[in-house]
Amino acid sequence: MKDVEPNDDGDEDEDVEVDPFFFDDGYDVAASTGFARVWEGAEALTAHLERTGLGRGERVLELGAGVGECGLACAALGAHVLLTDVRAVCENVIRRNIEQNGAGPATELLGAWPNATRIGSGSASRATLNWMDEIPSDPFQNSALTFRDADILIAAECVWLRELLLPFVTTSSTLLRSGVRELILSVRDRSSTEDASSGKAFPHTNEVVREFESTGCSVEALHRQRSEDEGKEIVIFRITSAAAAPGA
Ligand SMILES: C[S@@+](CC[C@H](N)C(=O)[O-])C[C@H]1O[C@@H](n2cnc3c(N)ncnc32)[C@H](O)[C@@H]1O
Repeated sequence: MKDVEPNDDGDEDEDVEVDPFFFDDGYDVAASTGFARVWEGAEALTAHLERTGLGRGERVLELGAGVGECGLACAALGAHVLLTDVRAVCENVIRRNIEQNGAGPATELLGAWPNATRIGSGSASRATLNWMDEIPSDPFQNSALTFRDADILIAAECVWLRELLLPFVTTSSTLLRSGVRELILSVRDRSSTEDASSGKAFPHTNEVVREFESTGCSVEALHRQRSEDEGKEIVIFRITSAAAAPGA
C-alpha cells in the first residue's frame, strides 16, 4: 500500500482552512474526524489484520473508515473491502486514497464489491453508510449486492464519542443479525475518571461492551495493548450476534 492522506483539496493557500463539506447533509463535528488523520485504534486494528490475515478472500465492510488505513491494508492482504463513511468523507478522502493506492478495475475478481479497484491481492470500493440513517437496502445502482452481503465488519475508533455509540451499535448489530458473521472493532478508551467533562463525552470501554450486549450480541476481547496515553488501553473485540439470520 502506498499511503493514506488526510484531506487536501489542492488549495495552495494553506493558511485559509475552509471546510467545503461543512453544510452537507449528515456532516457534523463527529464526521469531520474522518478527514483528520489515522487514529491510534486504526494502527492497532491494522496490525491485528496483518497478524491474523483476517478477511483474506472474503467480503469485508469497514464502518467509519476515515482515511481508510485499515480497509486498504486489509485489501492489500487479499480481502475485498467496502470502505464506508458519511458521504463527504466517502466522496473525498476515501475516493482519493483508493485511487492513489489502486492498480486498475477489479471487475474480474470474484468477490469484489461493485466498482472496486485492485489493491495488492484484494480490492477496495466505497459507499456511503451513515449510522444516523436506515441502512440502505439497495446501495449499488449496478448490482444486487447489499451491505448485508459482507462476511465481516471492521471498525476502528468509531465509538469514541458517546453520541456515536448507540447509532454505531444499532447499525452494526443490525448487520450482524442479518447474517454478517462478525465485527472486529478496535476501541481506544478516552474516558477519564478524573475529568468529569471528558468522562461525559467519551464512553468507557465497558459501556461499549454493555451497549452491544444489550442488543443480544456476544463480545469477546481478542487483543489488548497499551495506548500511547499513560493508563489508557486499546482493545480489539470480536462481536457476534446469537440471533443471526438462519442459514446465513
Ligand atoms: C475517529 S474517526 C476514525 C476514522 C478511522 N476509522 C481511523 O481509525 O482512522 C471516526 C470516523 O467515524 C465517522 N463517522 C462519524 N459519524 C458517522 C456517522 N454518523 N455515520 C458514519 N460514519 C461516521 C467519521 O467520519 C470518521 O471517519
